[in-house]
Amino acid sequence: MKGLVLAGGHGTRLRPLTFSGNKHMIPIANQPILFYGLKHLARAGIRDVAVVLGPIHEEIRETLGDGSALGLRIEYIHQGDPKGLAHAVLCAREYLGQDPFVMYLGDNLLQEGVEEFVRLHAAEHADAVVGVTTVEDPSRYGIVELDGDRVVSIEEKPASPRSNQALIGVYLFEPTIHPIIARLHPSRRGELEITEAIWKLVQAGGKVLPHRVSGWWKDTGKPEDLLEANELVLRSMPAAAFESRGAIARGAALSPPVGLGPGTVVERNVEITGPVVVGAGAHLGEGSRIGPCTAIGNGVRITGAEIRGSIVMDGTLIEGPVRIAHSLIGRNVRVSKASPGGGEVSLTLGDAASVRL
Ligand code: G1P
Repeated sequence: MKGLVLAGGHGTRLRPLTFSGNKHMIPIANQPILFYGLKHLARAGIRDVAVVLGPIHEEIRETLGDGSALGLRIEYIHQGDPKGLAHAVLCAREYLGQDPFVMYLGDNLLQEGVEEFVRLHAAEHADAVVGVTTVEDPSRYGIVELDGDRVVSIEEKPASPRSNQALIGVYLFEPTIHPIIARLHPSRRGELEITEAIWKLVQAGGKVLPHRVSGWWKDTGKPEDLLEANELVLRSMPAAAFESRGAIARGAALSPPVGLGPGTVVERNVEITGPVVVGAGAHLGEGSRIGPCTAIGNGVRITGAEIRGSIVMDGTLIEGPVRIAHSLIGRNVRVSKASPGGGEVSLTLGDAASVRL
């Protein structure tokens, strides 16, 4: 079994989010989104993984390297222009050979991991296992109509959805999918659609099994999805994952779970309400109120500010009596406010932005 993790700008995923070069490297609970899928693959016993890169791929290779830190053997495949999810599989054709593979969209977050996909595939001798879940806005996704475990229809982003069961961006395929992909034509949005390939597999008599995922799932297409994912991950992290390696001054009030990286300093009169994670070398200065559901990156400096439900990335500076909520703040940003007063603000700031409120 191999893994295929898509970290390119596939189709509508190539959205103008200018954080950290590549949206797959945006930190969720202080870890790049991409890490979650890779760790799920490793946990399911998959060792060989290809990461498919699109035109914007800064940092991915540098950060993941050969994958050994994650217990994986990672290779990289350049997809070039994003021509669809099935196009990514086509680019990986040689790498995948005759192995079955789990394909994981790198910007998806799934609470339960991929073990059940692997187990179902082995137990049922399926040609494909597709993850499905109930959604409220079915016209945004690939939609599956089911009769028990039988797939009745599958359509990509239907205008009139026949069900509210969406494909979640995690799939397991036998190599029987390759000849089908090789014969696909670009869809209306100009892409080779994996959804169409799955439907053709069903029509050809292939055994396509739905796996209804338990727990939460998040497709992080928009800033608000990232914030929600951050909250979901923080809320479901086990207590042991919150390491406390920082220096906490007397008079600071911490309500667990709170994770502090090495070299992080929490001054007196600081209040942290978990779940919160803070990276290494950060400085939380007097009068700061952090949390809940907030992730603060490495080297961030905060003085006198209130921050909740937010992601603050590495090297950012926030000063003054500002109240920040539900904000996505990039790297090396400066936010300052000179005088108290004013309501809570919600910010989406790309890397190196500077705002004086
Ligand atoms: C892709 C798939 C879609 C699936 C979705 C899950 O859509 O084409 O079938 O439901 O991922 O995130 P995209 O977000 O690339 O438009």
